[in-house]
Amino acid sequence: MGIFMDLIKCRYSCRKYDSRPVEREKIQACIEAARLAPSACNSQPWYFAAVCDWELVRKIGATTQQYEGINRFADQPPVFITVWEDVAQLMPQISGDLDSQHYAPGDVGMAVSYLTLAAADMGLGTCIMGIFDEAVIRDLLHVPQEKKLRYVVAVGYPGAGSRIPEKGRKPLEEICKIVG
Ligand SMILES: Cc1cc2nc3c(=O)[nH]c(=O)nc-3n(C[C@H](O)[C@H](O)[C@H](O)COP(=O)(O)O)c2cc1C
Repeated sequence: MGIFMDLIKCRYSCRKYDSRPVEREKIQACIEAARLAPSACNSQPWYFAAVCDWELVRKIGATTQQYEGINRFADQPPVFITVWEDVAQLMPQISGDLDSQHYAPGDVGMAVSYLTLAAADMGLGTCIMGIFDEAVIRDLLHVPQEKKLRYVVAVGYPGAGSRIPEKGRKPLEEICKIVG
């Protein structure tokens, strides 16, 4: 297997972060990778707001901890990249039949997977988080209403002792078949 498979295997949800700041170029490179992801009709229905300001980072982290015992680590990452779904412009032939946002959640998911793989490639840890307070984060970052917050991604150098866990995944036979 090639280096891409190795990269996929070394990306994991990192839940222990070092306080070392992340270089701005690395944050930009993560977003650049996401920008290159495919999307329906090349609609690119995404927006990324990276947050490095310590006070804002802590406020955003706190909104991910609304359930007891979940996301305790969210007080550690030095950066959060918030990932928003934007209004998609599809080709008119298609948008006549489908809701304009039909493909958008999948598109944003692909962009996030590019982002996290690029981060792993640069030695950064990430954790995609689906629990957050959208209204609070929207206010803090002044993001307009038409964008929907889909993910908050913790980004930072893995803390001491953080390592790639066993990949707990369904067996291949259960999730696929090859026909022909
Ligand atoms: C949409 C989404 C939401 C997630 N939300 C959280 C979360 O709030 N907190 C957390 O610790 N992990 C969260 N995760 C990480 C998953 O638990 C993790 O990806 C999964 O267990 C597989 O582990 P791995 O990423 O280490 O391979 C989320 C992942 C995704 C894709």
